[in-house]
Amino acid sequence: MADPLGDPLIDAAVKVRENARATFSNFKVGAAVLDSGGRIHTGCNVENATYGLTVCAERVAIFKAISEGAGGFTRVAVVADTEDLTPPCGACRQILWEFCGDVEIVLANLAGKTETLRLGTLFPRAFDASSL
Ligand code: THU
Repeated sequence: MADPLGDPLIDAAVKVRENARATFSNFKVGAAVLDSGGRIHTGCNVENATYGLTVCAERVAIFKAISEGAGGFTRVAVVADTEDLTPPCGACRQILWEFCGDVEIVLANLAGKTETLRLGTLFPRAFDASSL
């Protein structure tokens, strides 16, 4: 049981994680993003034989959301089946920062362990449009 508190955003990330195409790493990740209208957008990691073209769950979720016209993201959930909770990779931190700002991030595993933090903690002194 990944979600003892009944958090719909974590539930969505747990569910979409099952769709991960993790053929090469066998490391499945699910992500879910909450928009300003209370709508949830989900993504899983999609790997590729060239490895480098792999896209992480977080970026799939945010790009799907943006392509549907969503915005004002307030919360992001990231779920993996790891004892030590899995944080977004560096590339995803940059993308999340640019489209979500200092958003709340909840990390969770399938055993129900969670940790909530803000992106600014994971990604201090970011380079973004204000730097240009
Ligand atoms: N991965 C994600 O989807 N999100 C993360 O936060 C960490 C890593 C994926 C990329 C790759 O498919 C696999 O996990 C192993 O790195």
